Amino acid sequence: MDIIIRKDAQEVGKAAAALVAPFANKGGTLGLATGSSPLSTYKELIRLYEAGEVSFKECQAFLLDEYVGLTRDDENSYFKTIRNEFTDHIDILDDQVFSPDGANPDPHAAAEEYEAMLAAQSVAVQILGIGGNGHIAFNEPTSSLSGLTKVQALHPKTVEDNARFFSSIEEVPTHALTQGLGTLSRAQNIVLVASGEGKAEAIRGTVEGPVSASCPGSILQMHNNVTIVIDEAAASKLENAEYYRLMEQLKLR
Ligand code: F6R
Repeated sequence: MDIIIRKDAQEVGKAAAALVAPFANKGGTLGLATGSSPLSTYKELIRLYEAGEVSFKECQAFLLDEYVGLTRDDENSYFKTIRNEFTDHIDILDDQVFSPDGANPDPHAAAEEYEAMLAAQSVAVQILGIGGNGHIAFNEPTSSLSGLTKVQALHPKTVEDNARFFSSIEEVPTHALTQGLGTLSRAQNIVLVASGEGKAEAIRGTVEGPVSASCPGSILQMHNNVTIVIDEAAASKLENAEYYRLMEQLKLR
């Protein structure tokens, strides 16, 4: 694992975008996360696109997850959110952005369909955020470390955290369709971004904890090409933060 520690969320976004851009320019398949964490990364990628430094025109993109029960045109669906926040502002073709079908009346069939689509892909770089309880995509604690795309009941804390996007907590869906930990681990490269103190414990478990389904992010320790890009606050519980800073300086480019 490479650990990159930056001053704040904006600097996290710049560092993460610099890692992602070369894959986009090669037309690589991108794995996209929704939520607040990657917003500064998307903002910087949009800036690079507007500056003519990156193009997504040959790329396909696959979302990590989607709420069960939301149609694609629902403002809170991840299908809509990723368009509003990122893909509508770059040159990727809209029909090359894919997500699980949250409106399928049979969510288990939707999960299987999405897994089959992903099985035919090779994701060049997967962008991840992380939940305060260590979930990646919507793999809540106890998720199989080798699991495939599935229907996940959301942890009450996740529902509470995500209520900020809805008018009331009752409107937050109770379930999501999510790539499994096995599914997302097939990506060739993974860039996880996090900022704020609320993520510090999850980052500690992911980087320094034992590999355990109790902290799903810890599965990333088994992956060969992972970069964790975090701000000072999210790094605040790392025992070996000084060593990670030194390793970044010593890394051969
Ligand atoms: C979203 C996703 C989730 C979020 C996580 C953190 O596609 O997969 O794992 O990354 O819930 O959410 P934020 O970034 O809003 O704190």
